[in-house]
Amino acid sequence: MNLNIINGRVWINSNLEDIIISIKDGKISKLANQDNIPEADVSIDVENNIVFPGCVDVHSHLRDSEFSYKEDFISGTQAAVAGGFTTVLDMPNTDPPIINVKELKKRQNNAKNRIFCNVGFYSSPIKSEDVNQLRLSNAIAFKIYLHKPFEEQDLSDVNLIRIMNRISECDSILAVHAEDRQLFDQNNNHTIESEVHAINRIIKLAKQTDCKIHFVHVSTKEGIEAIKNNKSIVDISCEATPHHMILNTEKINSEKHYCEPPLRDKENQEAIFNSVVDGEIDIIGTDHAPHSLRDKDEGKPGFPGLEITLPLMIDLYMKNKITLQRIYEILVDNPIKRFGLRNIGQIKEGYNADLIVINENKMNTINVNNFLSKAKNSPFDGNQILGVVTKTIINGQVVFDGKKIIASPGTGRVLEKEVDF
Ligand code: NCD
Ligand code: ZN
Repeated sequence: MNLNIINGRVWINSNLEDIIISIKDGKISKLANQDNIPEADVSIDVENNIVFPGCVDVHSHLRDSEFSYKEDFISGTQAAVAGGFTTVLDMPNTDPPIINVKELKKRQNNAKNRIFCNVGFYSSPIKSEDVNQLRLSNAIAFKIYLHKPFEEQDLSDVNLIRIMNRISECDSILAVHAEDRQLFDQNNNHTIESEVHAINRIIKLAKQTDCKIHFVHVSTKEGIEAIKNNKSIVDISCEATPHHMILNTEKINSEKHYCEPPLRDKENQEAIFNSVVDGEIDIIGTDHAPHSLRDKDEGKPGFPGLEITLPLMIDLYMKNKITLQRIYEILVDNPIKRFGLRNIGQIKEGYNADLIVINENKMNTINVNNFLSKAKNSPFDGNQILGVVTKTIINGQVVFDGKKIIASPGTGRVLEKEVDF
C-alpha cells in the first residue's frame, strides 16, 4: 500500500518545509512538492501540523511479567505512541530482571506480538563473560544501578572493570544510574554527593577501560560539571528527565512524587534546564517508571513520562525557551547516534517511516486519568500546556490518530542487531 502525507510542515534539514511524504512498504519512498504528487492508495491530510521524525526514548520501564499490574508491553507501548515515541529502549530492572541471555530472550519473545512501537532491550550482566552473547542476542545496551545491584551482581571496581572491558570490546555502551548508597544520609536521602561521587568513580573506570558511558537522569549541577569537564577525555554522554529539568522541591511535594534521584532544589533544577538548552546534556530520557497508586503510597520511586515528555518540550518551544532544533537533538538525533540506531530519525527517502504529527498550537491539560499507561500519577497533573501529538506512524502504519490507538499489537518490532543497530 502507498500512503501520502499531505499538507504538513515537515522537519527536513533543520527546517519546516511544505513537502509531501510518500510511504511504501514501511519506508519513506519519496519526498515531493505540490507539482509532482506521487500516486497513492491513501492520502492523510495533516492540516498544516508539524511532521517530525518519531522520538526515541532511551529510558523506559515497560515492566510486564511479574510487574504487569504496574504496566505491561501493551499499555507501555501504547503510552509511548500516544506521546510521540516510535522507538523506546526498555530497562532491565524487571521481575525477573534481565541479567542473562535466557531472560533477555524470554523478554524479547514475550514482547514480540504485543508491542505497538519498536523496542530495544537493555540487559544488566551478572557475569562479564555473558556480555558478548547478550549483545549477539540483541541487547541494545547495558545498564547498571550502582546503588541497587541485582542479587549476586558484583559492582566492585575490579568486577566493573571486567564488565566494562567486555562492553568496550563489543562496541556497546554502558548506561549508569550513578548514585552511591554509602553517601545517602542517615534517613536514606539520596544526597547530591552520592550522585557526584558515583559519576566521578565511573569516569575514572571509563578512563581505564575505554568503555562508552551514558549517565542516565543526572540531577545535580556538580554532576553535570564533572561530565562536562571530562567529555574531551572519555566517551561519555548524559541524559536528564523532564521532571529534573522543569520541577524542583519549591514547586512540588517531593514526598508524594518521589523518584530516584529525587527532585532537587531550584539551583540544581535551573542548572539542568540550562544544560539541556545549551547542549551539555545530550538527551532527554523519560524515565517512564510506572507504579500502581498503592505502590506509590508505599514509597516506590518514579512516575510515568512517555505521554507528556514531548508535549512538555513543545510547550517550552512555544514559550521560546528551547528551539525545535534542540528538541530534535535531545529526543531524536542524539539518542539515535549515541545508541547506534540505524535507518530512523530523518525524513528522507529510504528511511523507515516512523513519523509523528504535532499540533503545537493546541492546548491540553495533563490529566493522569487519560493516560494510556496503567500508572495514573504525575507531578505534572493539571498542567496546561501547548502541544499535542495528533498522529503517530510506525513502520509505515498509522498507530495513533490523536485520540486512540488504531493498530493492533505487534505493529512494533523488537530491535535487532545488524538490522536496527
Ligand atoms: C525507576 C523504577 O521505578 O524502575 N524509578 C525511578 O524513580 N527512577 C528506577 C530507576 O530508573 O532508577
Ligand atoms: Zn529508570
